[in-house]
Amino acid sequence: MPKAKLAVFASGTGSNYDAITEAVKYGKLDAEVALLVSDQPNAKVVEKAKQQGTPTFVFEPKQYRDKNAFEEKIVNVLQEHKIDWIVLAGYMRLIGNTLLRPFEGKIINIHPSLLPAFPGLDAIGQAFEAGVKISGVTVHYVDEGMDTGSIIAQEAVNVTDKMTRDDLQQAIQQVEHRLYPETIQKLIARGESQ
Ligand code: GRF
Repeated sequence: MPKAKLAVFASGTGSNYDAITEAVKYGKLDAEVALLVSDQPNAKVVEKAKQQGTPTFVFEPKQYRDKNAFEEKIVNVLQEHKIDWIVLAGYMRLIGNTLLRPFEGKIINIHPSLLPAFPGLDAIGQAFEAGVKISGVTVHYVDEGMDTGSIIAQEAVNVTDKMTRDDLQQAIQQVEHRLYPETIQKLIARGESQ
């Protein structure tokens, strides 16, 4: 069977992009990272993808008429690259219907809290400020809402009294970097969509 083709969408550092490409390299994830999509031309993740020879589609939203226009373009690029799964990894935008419809059940996201707690921006900071004793990581399907799609996998992280916000971030990222490739592999193996 041909390998599943993933498009990773990211706007930032790309530590999850790294974890996914490493998992592919070491045979833990039976897929191909066939495309990196970014709305941030200067993001570190774009530089990394170029260095590794991953094809990139980098766009500037303000150069398009509206969200529908850039999502139409993205759909064309995804179809050209025969993408099977969209993996959001720090892509800081809501996905609109233009992109959701053709990839229904094939778009997933990772969020650094135990959803439905602390959706949206700075989930780690929100959880830390709230003083929760348990936070964690969620992998979920993407719908039109903000971190509202159905949950695929979760893992808890204990927040001890000694932890700083940065410690919590580190602990959460460590879990993300293992859980995301593992979960993608399970989905691919099942050939599953929502
Ligand atoms: C991760 O914490 C992820 O949960 C959130 O955005 C962050 C991306 O980090 N959606 P990175 O760019 O993968 O390092």
